[in-house]
Amino acid sequence: MSETKRYTVTAALPYANGGIHLGHLAGAYLPPDIYVRYRRLKNEDVIFVCGSDEHGVPITLGARKEGISPQQFVDKYHELMKKSFSEFGISFDIYSRTSNKIHHETASQFFLDLYNAKKFAEETSQQFYDEEEKIFLADRYIKGTCPVCANENAYGDQCEKCGSSLSPKELKNPVSVLSGKIPVLKETKHWYFPLNEYENFFRDWILENHKHDWKTNVYGQCKSWIDAGLHPRAMTRDLEWGVKVPLPNAEGKVLYVWFDAPIGYISATKELKPNDWEKYWKDKDTTLLHFIGKDNIVFHCLLFPAFLHAHGEYILPANVPANEFLNLEGEKL
Ligand code: 2FM
Ligand code: ZN
Repeated sequence: MSETKRYTVTAALPYANGGIHLGHLAGAYLPPDIYVRYRRLKNEDVIFVCGSDEHGVPITLGARKEGISPQQFVDKYHELMKKSFSEFGISFDIYSRTSNKIHHETASQFFLDLYNAKKFAEETSQQFYDEEEKIFLADRYIKGTCPVCANENAYGDQCEKCGSSLSPKELKNPVSVLSGKIPVLKETKHWYFPLNEYENFFRDWILENHKHDWKTNVYGQCKSWIDAGLHPRAMTRDLEWGVKVPLPNAEGKVLYVWFDAPIGYISATKELKPNDWEKYWKDKDTTLLHFIGKDNIVFHCLLFPAFLHAHGEYILPANVPANEFLNLEGEKL
């Protein structure tokens, strides 16, 4: 065991698409705030990083609803959220944003590093396409019935009622969120991360090594996903808004928001500590902690650690404290 010399504490980057409410604060921001204040009181080396998640479908969908561009939309909500956090007294060392240049560069380079190390598989497949709107439908643009709990309002990537991670083709009765029409399947090329090839890594790293120190809800969810079998996941999307795929012949394609968002923790650290950010991410004497809400478990316990591991230069999270949702009348607040 190495001795901890410093702490890198992250709080989930909220989508820049609304206000910060009590559910956010209680779940993912107040717990790390208390934790870092304790470390600071002990004069320990700790950084607390966060920022707005400004890509992905929640943003393009929100901008569309308000009739403004995605950039205008994120500018508005980033400022609002930053102000709310500050007024509430959440003591981030930096509250950054993923539309920053430094983030686009960092996420692009990370993707290229994995691409050059042959960590992706390039595949052409059939994806849902909205013929009326003339665009490929990202997972969040498709709604339907969850195959696990029968919730009729599940999204193509996730059921927010039972927390299952889904793919759009698993939904029953899929419809396009944009036009309300039934989407058709059409061919497109994407880069896939073969999560299935990391099963042994997860079994050792989570199921063996974190049996006693991860929360039972987090450990249990990971175990059930690993036991059920992992699958390759596309790391690119057909969208205009986001970090462009840094490869030739990839016009109109961006990095999947769940590929670039967690890299936002690294970009924010670079912005905060331009000269010595690396020790907060690459030194084995650093303890990395991700504070999140429970709907983010799969991304912080499986996907992001697998990217870090595949890259090879980074440390892995020591713990991923995930909280249950604050419920109101039986629904997520
Ligand atoms: O669930 C959410 O609000 C996501 N924007 C959290 C992202 S956390 C991290 F990966 F950036
Ligand atoms: Zn469900």
